[in-house]
Amino acid sequence: MIRFAKELSVPEGSGRVKIIGGVPVMVLRHKGQLHAYVAICDHKYYVLCERSVRDKIVCPGHGEMFSSETGEPSQGKAKSPLRRLRLEVREGEIWVEVPSREVLEELIKNTSGE
Ligand code: FES
Repeated sequence: MIRFAKELSVPEGSGRVKIIGGVPVMVLRHKGQLHAYVAICDHKYYVLCERSVRDKIVCPGHGEMFSSETGEPSQGKAKSPLRRLRLEVREGEIWVEVPSREVLEELIKNTSGE
């Protein structure tokens, strides 16, 4: 697992995005719960940003909306939910399990049918 940020740096209703090993990772807090996702929309592979986090996660590309709690898309543009990442809080720090860039590229290739 990789240390992402201090827990207090992600207050309610906000999110943070960091590139870790070439993988964009989003951690957000919604209704008190922290969630971590790979911050890529699989419609046209735009990267989600911190400003994407509202009540839902809104893709800056073409407006797909993902549930903050499940990562499920609701507008029919993205083919699949955001990839959820395992997250732990230890001594006030958020730790996230991040797939390697190679694993992620393989997943994207399989999802897009290329
Ligand atoms: S890239 Fe996300 S909606 Fe098009």
